[in-house]
Amino acid sequence: MATVVLAYSGGLDTSVAIRWINEQYNLDVITVTIDVGNARDLPAIAARAEKIGAVKALVVDGRADFVHYFVWPALQAGAIYEREYPLATALARPLIARLLVDVARAEGAVAVAHGCTGKGNDQVRFDVSINTLAPDLKIIAPVREWSMTRDNEIAYAARHHIPIQVTNANPYSVDQNLWGRSIECGILEDPWAEPPEEVYDWTTNSDFRNISNESQPQEPAYIEITFQQGIPIGLNGEEVDGVTLIETLNKLAGSYGIGRIDHIENRLVGIKSREVYEAPAAVILHDAHRALESLTLSRDQARFKEVVATEYAHLIYNGQWYSALHQDLAAYVHNTQRFVSGVVRMKLSHGHCIVVGRKSEHSLYNHSLATYDSGDQFDHNAALGFIKLWGLPLTTQAQAQLLPEIGIDGNLLKEPVS
Ligand code: ARG
Repeated sequence: MATVVLAYSGGLDTSVAIRWINEQYNLDVITVTIDVGNARDLPAIAARAEKIGAVKALVVDGRADFVHYFVWPALQAGAIYEREYPLATALARPLIARLLVDVARAEGAVAVAHGCTGKGNDQVRFDVSINTLAPDLKIIAPVREWSMTRDNEIAYAARHHIPIQVTNANPYSVDQNLWGRSIECGILEDPWAEPPEEVYDWTTNSDFRNISNESQPQEPAYIEITFQQGIPIGLNGEEVDGVTLIETLNKLAGSYGIGRIDHIENRLVGIKSREVYEAPAAVILHDAHRALESLTLSRDQARFKEVVATEYAHLIYNGQWYSALHQDLAAYVHNTQRFVSGVVRMKLSHGHCIVVGRKSEHSLYNHSLATYDSGDQFDHNAALGFIKLWGLPLTTQAQAQLLPEIGIDGNLLKEPVS
């Protein structure tokens, strides 16, 4: 029998999908469970897949690749969607698509399958990536294709003796990986409703009453993050690999309640949706990285990079990772990072972090130019000529156009120029 490779999470949808694909498409199912830092019992998930009827159940540790090829480039780019979302879910999709295709090739499969619904961004990211990398592979998306409600699925599972753990108490849809946790559905669909505490798992509540409750550390923490060419490589002076660094920061910053995000987001498929995120490490690392760039990039480089960051975030969000535009922007971003090396010192306290120090051997900050104290080498006289030329177009235009219009006694502030 021909085979299909299914991205298997172990949850209800993809568990039912193993059997459903089997029946509907007459294909043998090979499952792949990909670890991108989503902390689950992987051997147990693989065992479940086989029990349900998968002919093979593979587990792939994608964490190091995820950080190296997806998270770090996005961090270097400063990619944050709509100023809020550090793109955790969106960044993992092209990696998972790539691994599905790799396994499909190795196993000689004719199709790949994923458990996305027909309403979200993830189906777009998967399908576009898979079609780009392997246009000959058929894509099966059972949840998009079947018209089963959750109750129908549970009944289907019972009928086919599919072992599932159904916790009907949890109304939320959650996706998580090293870079963050995404929560949607339930009461969160009301944009006016404050997210209930139960949606959070990585971050403590930083309300005052909880702080005195010792649910959070009482004292602020200071941390130092070392960057080399825009990539964080050290914590508090010790070299650390990316996966460990992110895990450590998620725990530490999460204990201070740092990294909660509540966002009304514009989905690619045209709807607005309310998304709650927990991304302690991502928030800290983006802040730290930006602080180091403010020391090491010129004003013009920094300004142009903001434009690139916005575009970069959009292409990640919109599923265009495997595009020439991405290659072009990535090359640009990579080049901008050659002097972004140094150390950033941050203070973590209840619910927020701030940068309190930064240093770099490539720093453009020049104390003798900046100081107001003795040792000042800034040429104050040169400022006069500079101001004259900088303001020249304004004074010229005012004399030719603005002042005659309002009269010499007119008040530019009172009368809007029409
Ligand atoms: N809105 C985010 C995105 O499109 C997160 C999606 C999370 N998916 C989920 N099943 N909860 O990237």
